[in-house]
Amino acid sequence: MPTRTKTSIVQLLERYNQDPRVDKLNLTVGVYTDESGRCPILDSVREAEYFRVKNQASKASFNLAGTIEYQQAVRTILFPTMINRREDSNVQVIQTLGASGALHLVGRLINHYFPTARIWLSSPTWENHPAVLNSHMGGFGYYRYQPANQEQLCMETIFEDLQSARPGDFVLLHACCHNPTGIDPTLSQWEKFADFCAERKLIPLFDFAYQGFAHSLQKDAELFIAFRERLDMFLICSSFSKNMGIYDERTGALTLIFKDTNKLEDWYKTIKILIRSSYSMPPTHGSFIVSHIINDTLRFAHWQQELAGIRNDLQRRRSILFSEMSKFGIIDKVLSYRQQQGMFLCLNLSQQEIDSLRDKQGIYILDSGRMCIASLSIANMPRFCEALMCVI
Ligand code: LMR
Repeated sequence: MPTRTKTSIVQLLERYNQDPRVDKLNLTVGVYTDESGRCPILDSVREAEYFRVKNQASKASFNLAGTIEYQQAVRTILFPTMINRREDSNVQVIQTLGASGALHLVGRLINHYFPTARIWLSSPTWENHPAVLNSHMGGFGYYRYQPANQEQLCMETIFEDLQSARPGDFVLLHACCHNPTGIDPTLSQWEKFADFCAERKLIPLFDFAYQGFAHSLQKDAELFIAFRERLDMFLICSSFSKNMGIYDERTGALTLIFKDTNKLEDWYKTIKILIRSSYSMPPTHGSFIVSHIINDTLRFAHWQQELAGIRNDLQRRRSILFSEMSKFGIIDKVLSYRQQQGMFLCLNLSQQEIDSLRDKQGIYILDSGRMCIASLSIANMPRFCEALMCVI
């Protein structure tokens, strides 16, 4: 049978927007909405914006890689246990247009420094990964990413597939809240990953778009300790879109962690040339919000409290949804794993069932079966389960 091309998130959003049904549900894109369906602006963010409007003295800005304050804020949350973060000469932070902007730069950097290297992606992964990384020439490899049982990720299949990676290849890893499955390695599994990459001379490339959505800002970054100990170099692409809810500010970072400081300096120079020759300078509103909050102890604590509220709400939604699914007797049919983190979970549905969910029930999830639990209100859960019952 010919395989159908997957409908992208953007195409689904267009279809959803044109759908006239009033009870339609959009569970496609990863956006957190509250019980009323609104994507809230955090108080800590509002305060930072008011402060800026009142106090900004000039709009002249010429920091290709972002301000020192922004770079400092990123270091603070990526390496929370390091004491002398500011003087850490093995790390360089570059402001980017979200994590996608960082990934795009990485694609170009790999092309520049390692034109024949492959990038290994999890299967499944975020649908846009191959596209944003596409400027590299070496091509992609894929490693299977699936549960071993109801509780844990299957590391054996991952390592089996990565046996074919060559030294110098890059492995894209989701640091937490894997998109789309929501399944994350444990800390000891991350240590095995770090050992594996060090032994085979593979270069880890982290997509860290959901820091703070699994356990806490600090705990979600703990895996990097093992990678810093074992690896000569690795890269982190991170974003404040989700954890600060500043989706429209496109505020992210590319962080380079290199043992060799000369090499680090060389990459940093190249990145600045790539930035200058593409979009010239990054915007400053989002990066101001981030540094204003994180570089001040009280504001930082306030934001973490707000983020914990979102995280707890997602955990609550997940457990309510699971008990609704149990009530309807469908949980074993639709879920193969019960320990997901973050905004998403993947349902075991056929393409026909996913199509019926959209066409007959007005409920939009991705072709991969990914649904965004962060956009499903508790009030809508019984209706969602009834709709699942009708299509399976
Ligand atoms: C998602 O996976 O839904 C998010 O990363 C948003 C996007 O741009 O796709």
